[in-house]
Amino acid sequence: MAKVEESSKNFSLKEYPFPTEEIPRLSINNPETDRRIAAGLPVVIEDSRLVQSALHWDLDYLQENIGDGKFTVYKSKNKRFQYFDDKKIDSNKNFQKPMEHLDLTFPEFVNKLKTAKPGKDRVYLQQALNEGVGKRIVADFLGFNWSWVTEQQKKNKFGPLTSNLLLIGMEGNVTPAHYDEQENFFTQIRGYKRFILFHPDRQSQFKCMYPYPTYHPCDRQNQVDFDNPDYKKFPKFKDAKGYETVVGPGDILYLPMYWWHHVESLPDYGHTISVTFWYKAGPIGNIVYPLTPQQKVSMMRNIEKMIHQALNDPDEVPEFMQNMVLGRYTEPPA
Ligand code: SIN
Ligand code: FE
Repeated sequence: MAKVEESSKNFSLKEYPFPTEEIPRLSINNPETDRRIAAGLPVVIEDSRLVQSALHWDLDYLQENIGDGKFTVYKSKNKRFQYFDDKKIDSNKNFQKPMEHLDLTFPEFVNKLKTAKPGKDRVYLQQALNEGVGKRIVADFLGFNWSWVTEQQKKNKFGPLTSNLLLIGMEGNVTPAHYDEQENFFTQIRGYKRFILFHPDRQSQFKCMYPYPTYHPCDRQNQVDFDNPDYKKFPKFKDAKGYETVVGPGDILYLPMYWWHHVESLPDYGHTISVTFWYKAGPIGNIVYPLTPQQKVSMMRNIEKMIHQALNDPDEVPEFMQNMVLGRYTEPPA
């Protein structure tokens, strides 16, 4: 177990078979913070006060004030909460859902969270904050440091804010490695989360990650199980090199678009509370060469989707793709 000291906390962290470097933790006033965001590089910002008005949130307060609608809660038989797209299930007949989607009231969720037994089902609430929340939550939400975050959005030419996802996880929950097609200011409110990131660079890190095909319900998710990597199937995972950090209450992690991320809820209060600020990519503008790693990933996705659409049969795709490259764009066999 590796030790990471963060805000005087001492966590025993699981060791994985790849090296990692620390993501810099900087002040909001450090010019390097803005430089990193502008360059699309992750950074932890420790004093932004972005969600200061929500730092008092706990399960009791949320239960009283969040409203009586239904909330999206995932249930998993193990610690992994691997996202999947319901809309892509029909074309993948053998697909086994990695977790179950429940719609629960907040008290139903809290009850499940509090009565969960070690080794049994786990739950993870993942719900966009919307108009259904009560007045006090609205006031807390309006008290977020919108001027800073909106200034960042403008300066860095992000597109519109799409959602603020509220995440309430049990300690030990893991969101396996995946990338999102949005910029994210990830804010931590309660408890601690460990993030392990990988660069989207096609030459170095993207080839070490093995995303599911774009038509698969687990599109954008890595197929490699970090706890038990299958190096026969995924040999380049041996070359993976990550970046990591632990975020605690009040911290922001700027999580740039297309960066792979694996997230663990660490033990502290027994649960973690976080809120994302997700922004669409901005307009592309003039193309400048060389293309960025992000633009290349996006291009790969578009080409893959086009081939799927044109062939109209996922089973034909592997051979078609191989015929395109084998012996022409691959090394000759030794
Ligand atoms: C998590 O906090 O568990 C996941 C957040 C994300 O994937 O963006
Ligand atoms: Fe994500």
